[in-house]
Amino acid sequence: MAILSWSEQYLVGNKTIDDEHKELFNLINQFHTDWVETQDRQVIARVLNRLVDYAERHFQHEEAIMAEAGYPMLTEHQKVHEMLFDKIFNLHQDYVRNDLRLEIGMVKFLKNWLVDHILENDYLFRDFLKKHPAADKPAEPLANAEP
Ligand code: FEO
Repeated sequence: MAILSWSEQYLVGNKTIDDEHKELFNLINQFHTDWVETQDRQVIARVLNRLVDYAERHFQHEEAIMAEAGYPMLTEHQKVHEMLFDKIFNLHQDYVRNDLRLEIGMVKFLKNWLVDHILENDYLFRDFLKKHPAADKPAEPLANAEP
């Protein structure tokens, strides 16, 4: 059961970034499925770990793409990425170390964590690319998260 459905409304306009966002959707859906179907702490910790790892690589990659494009709000975007990364890193640490119990609120948090960032922050880069289409350079895709 998917908690997140990808649609064109989430497209930023850079294919590499959009593909990476789709992978983040997949990971959050996998987290939700594992939580609903297994309740197994090791399985859930593993998918959370994959999400933290992939999010870190996506944020770094997206920043490199923005830098290459000459995006003027890169510094502000990096600060938002740092804050977002801290949130899921700490969530993972709390889950693994402190026997944090999973609640439905955590699944909703992850859903909003990603969707709100795309719609509020990554969309600003989409607007920039619309005004400066020549700035949209092809980028090598990231390898998907390890299974
Ligand atoms: Fe796609 Fe700014 O993260």
